[in-house]
Amino acid sequence: MSKRSVLLHLDADDHPSVFDRVVAVDAGVDVLLSHGSVKVGQVRDLVHGAIFTRGPKDLNRTALFVGGSNVEKAEELYSEARKHLLPQYGLRVSMMLDANGCNTTAVAAVRAVMASVPYSGARALVLAGTGPVGQRVVSLLARLGCAVRLASRQLDRAEAAARAILCKRPGAVIEAVAPANPFDMSRALEDCDILVACGAAGIRLVDHGIWSKKRLKVVVDLNGVPPMGIEGIEPFDSGVEREGAICHGALGVGGFKMKLHKACISSLFETNQLELEEDAIFDRAVILAGG
Ligand SMILES: NC(=O)c1ccc[n+]([C@@H]2O[C@H](COP(=O)([O-])OP(=O)(O)OC[C@H]3O[C@@H](n4cnc5c(N)ncnc54)[C@H](OP(=O)(O)O)[C@@H]3O)[C@@H](O)[C@H]2O)c1
Repeated sequence: MSKRSVLLHLDADDHPSVFDRVVAVDAGVDVLLSHGSVKVGQVRDLVHGAIFTRGPKDLNRTALFVGGSNVEKAEELYSEARKHLLPQYGLRVSMMLDANGCNTTAVAAVRAVMASVPYSGARALVLAGTGPVGQRVVSLLARLGCAVRLASRQLDRAEAAARAILCKRPGAVIEAVAPANPFDMSRALEDCDILVACGAAGIRLVDHGIWSKKRLKVVVDLNGVPPMGIEGIEPFDSGVEREGAICHGALGVGGFKMKLHKACISSLFETNQLELEEDAIFDRAVILAGG
């Protein structure tokens, strides 16, 4: 009989994310060990607790999830955790990083694009492409063969984000832009097929009068808190046609995001070999969506 599934949940926030805990329970985790305020220096002992308790043949029943609101701190915890696995002795567990939903949300947004238009060779504008979600959206669209304009309020931030993504995806076509007024925004949208807004909650990034005049094929807004990031997109839009474009709002995308998050957590217990970050989560999403 297989052992009960145990998820070690690490979070840099004072209170480990309630959201992540509920998803873990809904994904069927038997025992959830959530730790908040985790510092990098504490990760080794936490990981050792996970890998030294069950023999290699049962370690597929233990897994590690790193969440929390601060994506940078979560990335540090995740990379520290990876250092303390001992794969040479079979002493490792599957791991997943999804702080603030950065990976599952970006993947769900890109899946919405893929379901709506032919994407290879398309041109995309990603607003607020500097944030944790935005950078991943840019990176995944580039992986699909889109030419991407990465927008920020500040050109140097856009350029830094573009450089970081190019290091990971050499050969990607990414142009940094910083539209400061409606005229610039209209220019940034020139020749674009795809518009994805990844701005902070409650921040309007583009007015209806600007994007509606363009020949966009798909529009995705991930901000679900009024005012919307893209004026005219409704949170529950899920493939709704507006101004000739197929539109998706934050809650429309959120349905698939939740399904994906749960599927990823369940899959952590199939093997002890998984490392679920941006690309691997994207690959899971393709399978989940049926290709
Ligand atoms: N639908 C879902 O299931 C789901 C799940 C998770 C997150 N989300 C949403 O996805 C969006 C992106 O998440 P995130 O964590 O990447 O967001 P974030 O870090 O809070 O913000 C993303 C970017 O927004 C820009 N920004 C911040 N404050 C701004 C302001 N006052 N005015 C204009 N721009 C501003 C910044 O870009 P620049 O400084 O470079 O301009 C920042 O990098 C958020 O709206 C979040 O709520 C949705």
